[in-house]
Amino acid sequence: MDVKVFKNKTELSRHIADLMIEKINSHDHLNLGLATGSTFTKVYRMLTEGYIHRQLSFRSVRTFNLDEYVDIDEHHPETYRNFMNRHLFDHVDIDKDKTHFPPTDADIDYKEYDDLIEKLGGIDIQLLGIGVNGHIGFNEPGVPFDTRTHKVRLEETTREANKKFFDSVDEVPTHAVTMGIESIMGSRMIILAAYGHHKADAVRDMIEGAITIDHPASILQKHADCLVVLDEAAASKLKYSI
Ligand code: F6R
Repeated sequence: MDVKVFKNKTELSRHIADLMIEKINSHDHLNLGLATGSTFTKVYRMLTEGYIHRQLSFRSVRTFNLDEYVDIDEHHPETYRNFMNRHLFDHVDIDKDKTHFPPTDADIDYKEYDDLIEKLGGIDIQLLGIGVNGHIGFNEPGVPFDTRTHKVRLEETTREANKKFFDSVDEVPTHAVTMGIESIMGSRMIILAAYGHHKADAVRDMIEGAITIDHPASILQKHADCLVVLDEAAASKLKYSI
């Protein structure tokens, strides 16, 4: 793992946005794996500004989001599709037919999402946030490392953390469909970002702890090209890695 530490969320977002602009500009086609949540909102704003200032185009970009809530009205502002529309897709020249989300219909084989990703060339760069319990995507502690896209029940700590986007915790869906750990590990490059003191334990265990399904993000130690971008608060409990 390559660990980089910046002063704050703005500076770490600048680093990630610049890297993505460089990658998008230097490839004919790029498949991006995207995350929702608060970690990447500034990155998406910086990419939007980059597009407005003609530093990049999304015409040759295809996206695959990590997860989508189950049993949520498709017009609800907090579906992950609507989140991505609002934070990025509505403001840039991406073809929305090339933006993909895990299927949430009950009668579908969720692994079709992995097959689609594979058929379209695999993910070049996967953006990941991390949960305070070490989840990546919505792979909560205990999920086997060889899992592909699947439906999950969200832990109460995860629903609590996500209530910031809803009126109350009762409104946060109980289930989601997420790419599995194996799906995520198949990406050619991974950029995991975290900011804030509340992520410091999860970040330490991911980088310096044992590789265990009890801390899903710890598997990233085995990825050949994983960049971890932190602010000083999220890095504050690291002993050896910086
Ligand atoms: C979101 C996702 C989650 C979040 C994580 C951190 O698509 O898969 O794993 O990345 O819960 O959330 P924030 O960024 O809100 O702290």
